[in-house]
Amino acid sequence: MKERIPELLDAATEALGRAYAPYSKFPVGAALLTHSGDIYLGCNIEISSYGLTMCAERVAMFKAISDGAREFEFMAVAATTTSFCPPCGACRQVLMDFAPDLKLILLSSKGETREMTISELLPEAFAPSFLGVERRR
Ligand code: THU
Repeated sequence: MKERIPELLDAATEALGRAYAPYSKFPVGAALLTHSGDIYLGCNIEISSYGLTMCAERVAMFKAISDGAREFEFMAVAATTTSFCPPCGACRQVLMDFAPDLKLILLSSKGETREMTISELLPEAFAPSFLGVERRR
């Protein structure tokens, strides 16, 4: 699956171009690679009532889940800034719930990448198991 990373970074960059961020002017693009090899794109979608805004990472994950995907390998997250855009706290919880082994690759506007895992980003995470529920595959 590692060989798909360049393609995944391109997909995240494509998603970046679809961002709807007229208020923050901070576009974000995400691309999620499933175990079966499908790639789901997500961009941030901002709403005039700001709190209703949805991050790129959750859009990608929810698209995948609603399509029936349950196993995930990598998520690439692209930003237009020179610094990396790590997933926000809310997205970390969503990613942890659905993909506790997920590997992330952040892509800056300089074309630099940084890899990390969701468990590094959200240690000591609350999880479905705390509710006596196993993640459904
Ligand atoms: N945003 C994301 O899409 N992903 C992140 O990881 C951080 C923040 C979006 C939400 C909002 O549209 C804009 O970036 C500024 O917060």
